[in-house]
Amino acid sequence: MGLMEFLREFATNPSAIGAIAPSSESLGAEIVRGIDIEKAEAVLEYGPGTGALTSHLVRAVQPSCQFLAIERNPRFAENLREVFPNITIHQGSVADVRAICDEHGIRMVDCIVSGLPWAAFSPEMQRTFLDAMMTVLKPGGRLATFAYLQGLLVPAGQRFASLLPEYFSEVKRSPTVWRNLPPAFVYRCRR
Ligand SMILES: C[S@@+](CC[C@H](N)C(=O)[O-])C[C@H]1O[C@@H](n2cnc3c(N)ncnc32)[C@H](O)[C@@H]1O
Repeated sequence: MGLMEFLREFATNPSAIGAIAPSSESLGAEIVRGIDIEKAEAVLEYGPGTGALTSHLVRAVQPSCQFLAIERNPRFAENLREVFPNITIHQGSVADVRAICDEHGIRMVDCIVSGLPWAAFSPEMQRTFLDAMMTVLKPGGRLATFAYLQGLLVPAGQRFASLLPEYFSEVKRSPTVWRNLPPAFVYRCRR
């Protein structure tokens, strides 16, 4: 799927997609850093979209790792299955992550890497998704999720930043990835 198709999906549902372009190679490299993903027994990807981060994740995990990507948009999910025939793509919402993991025989996971547009979500959705996340993330487990720099200027982005310490014992911010469009950074959190 190319940029045009990504933009078409964005035009149809901008708040669900929440980005004007797929993540860059530089952001992909940053998001897998410092979360012990190479030691993980089970990993989830939230909102893989066109798979810009997925290719970094599949390279980083062990062959024995249970890896599941959850994508709500049916067109993205269908395309991902073609591009990554060896990984499991579940078409659905991360709000249902507990049931989705049960369906795929996953009890708890070590890492969640998220491409969700948190700053485009309402306060209720942010909490719903984080509450659901806590039903599958092991104690000590990691979340890596990116945010656009400009998101820190809007209330929803600020609200998400202030929610993270409620759910995680450790929250760190990576340096800004200026080469991403728009510039972004990664929150690395430990439950
Ligand atoms: C900003 S795009 C990121 C795509 C890709 N990870 C990247 O970095 O280029 C956000 C993605 O999250 C998906 N998404 C939004 N809400 C979701 C939900 N509740 N459950 C699963 N995926 C969702 C969208 O369909 C979209 O593919």
